[in-house]
Amino acid sequence: MSISIVLMSCNNDKMDNTALNDVIDPIEHKIDSIVSRMSLEEKIGQTAQRGKSSRVKKLPENLINAVRKGEIGSFLNIMDKNDAKQLQKIAVEESPSKIPLIFARDVIHGFKTIFPIPLGQAASFNPELVREGSRIAAIEASTSGIRWTFAPMLDISRDPRWGRIAESAGEDPYLTSIMAEAYIKGFQGEDLSSPTSMAACAKHFIGYGAAEGGRDYNTANINEYLLHNVYLKPFKTAVDVGSATFMTSFNDLNGIPASANQYVLKDILRDQWDFEGFVVSDWNSVIEMVNHGFAKDAKEAAEKAANAMLDMEMTSTAYQDHMKELIQEGKFSEKKLDHMVKNILRIKFRLGLFENPYFNPNEDILYDKKHLASAEETAIESTVLLKNKNNILPIPITSKVAIIGPLANAPHEQLGTWTFDGEKEHTVTPLDVFKKDSNYSVQYSAGLSYSRDRSTTGFGEAIKAAKASDVILFFAGEEAILSGEAHSRANINLPGAQEKLISELAKTNKPIVLILMAGRPITLGNIIDKVDGILMAWHPGTMGGSALKNIITGKVSPSGKLPITWPKEVGQIPIHYNHKNTGRPVIPEEFVHMDSIPIAAWQSSLGNTSHYLDAGFLPQYPFGYGLGYSDFAYSDVTISTTNPNMGDVITVRVKITNIGKMKAKETVQLYFRDLVGSLTRPVKELLRFEKITLDPGVSKEVIFTFSTDDLAFYGPDKKWITEAGAFKLWVAKHSLDETNELEFVLR
Ligand code: BGC
Repeated sequence: MSISIVLMSCNNDKMDNTALNDVIDPIEHKIDSIVSRMSLEEKIGQTAQRGKSSRVKKLPENLINAVRKGEIGSFLNIMDKNDAKQLQKIAVEESPSKIPLIFARDVIHGFKTIFPIPLGQAASFNPELVREGSRIAAIEASTSGIRWTFAPMLDISRDPRWGRIAESAGEDPYLTSIMAEAYIKGFQGEDLSSPTSMAACAKHFIGYGAAEGGRDYNTANINEYLLHNVYLKPFKTAVDVGSATFMTSFNDLNGIPASANQYVLKDILRDQWDFEGFVVSDWNSVIEMVNHGFAKDAKEAAEKAANAMLDMEMTSTAYQDHMKELIQEGKFSEKKLDHMVKNILRIKFRLGLFENPYFNPNEDILYDKKHLASAEETAIESTVLLKNKNNILPIPITSKVAIIGPLANAPHEQLGTWTFDGEKEHTVTPLDVFKKDSNYSVQYSAGLSYSRDRSTTGFGEAIKAAKASDVILFFAGEEAILSGEAHSRANINLPGAQEKLISELAKTNKPIVLILMAGRPITLGNIIDKVDGILMAWHPGTMGGSALKNIITGKVSPSGKLPITWPKEVGQIPIHYNHKNTGRPVIPEEFVHMDSIPIAAWQSSLGNTSHYLDAGFLPQYPFGYGLGYSDFAYSDVTISTTNPNMGDVITVRVKITNIGKMKAKETVQLYFRDLVGSLTRPVKELLRFEKITLDPGVSKEVIFTFSTDDLAFYGPDKKWITEAGAFKLWVAKHSLDETNELEFVLR
């Protein structure tokens, strides 16, 4: 990019003192010059994002007129690309400053070719695949003029009751940060101005995942240390890798709604992190501050949001209706408004919209073979094998299989939440592929017609099919509508009569493989012992059926690992691996289950440690867990120094050998614990991971390097600090695996 030296009026508050000879990007110069010529109405217009209901067929005249007057800066969810073209033409040809519009949509896990839900993609522990998937999403979506996606969602999610956990990368800040980078680089491509790039939007800033009780939109109480050490981390990564935009969240964060929270929006995002893009509110979240009881009316909501430096308002019209008045009354300043408009124009420039406002509707690229292959690979790598009793899986290719369950042939449901553009006609379901493209002799009987179905009328047929087969493949789970926004559940077991049907099928004594498609972990206590194998496929997307066929027939070994702790019971939530210790941590060998407590036992006879009398202290499956068809031996674990100095780089080596019979992938995980801190530290934190592929009998050395800065935390002095002292490390197969332990003392 060429850099010229120009004089500049103020670009933002920070640049007020720009020395005359500062080097200024020519884009900034252009932005300044445009803004200096804009009317107040036009400036307010740039902060407005409007939508059109998909039920309204024709573009409403009032929207067309507003664009003509320069009173709208962006649109979301314009489903018809001809509408988008028409609006853009009016904006760039007829509006006073001829500023292009930016069209946005929730392209969350694919546009037409749908990839697994983000929680599933995180289970792949394969950022390269995630980057490729989001690149494909951008290539497909940009053919409809969508140059801005409201993704990735980077909310740390520790509560599977919360429906939006499906859109997250799970509970871990490090894994979520790695995924953040992959998504953003994929959506935005090498060059944001390429017509196939979409601006990313890191959302929801911040604390949305901590909604009380997993009830959507609820209050988030997150203390300052937790905020910095856990919730903010992936968003910092988003800024570092150049996310063009951020979105605020609906929730009230420690008493101040996120959409007007100066501490996070101004002090952290702008002043500490130097974020250069723009921030959009969530849908109506500005005026919802009235409901929160934080603003008495829309005008006060606008005042508070604007002063917190929220640049664009999604759908509600508080800025449009009141900003002029707020400026006249001195409650907000035109200079600050200029700053907001410049943030927005900067991204429009970087997207190349000023030079190339239109798009290429090249539909040939939709569902391209390469896109489908990538979606299939991601679905394979996202699938987690949770149980495999007596190696029931893979199923020999000449078996007689009974395909049962409401998700076996549910093309819409397997796409999952947020698939406005996905088309079920393109979905490959397990039934499709097993019938058409496998050597199995297949008996199909759904037993239940949808996941919440409580009718037992189909049970008889399903049992008949099971009896005539060698093995039952039971496709269970949740319909797409049961997870996602506002779709929280208080119980997260299999809905409807699915457990009942599994229990009936178990009576046939045929082995059962349970294949789950769901937007969250499912509590399995009532049936876990009745099934022999469990595969978690999440909502696997367009190619879910063929991905599962490859795994079930043993063409590939499953390699997903859980990005979230899987509870046994809802009562254990919140449950996450990176918790703090208590003063009385559980002593496993002393744990007494409530059924074993003697009658009239002495009150303190149970050891007084931290556990549940009924659910115990362990999850069903820990974070990072997942089996495969092969096995791996970990050996020769070494550390470069046991006495590093502050600032040193430390290397951990481990030899991994595939001791099984087939080629497989393994995600080797490195965890650490800072044993003593000026702030209590989690019992374990993921520090690094690497996914490798090994042929049987082959070994590979995995080398992890990290610096002592990677061990830092935000401490009582409100600064990031690495403290000297003792640390433990584990090279592990999952978060509870402590077989390979190392120690070092940092000087
Ligand atoms: C969601 C956002 C989404 C927006 C636009 C809101 O309800 O919380 O995540 O991007 O709608 O569809």
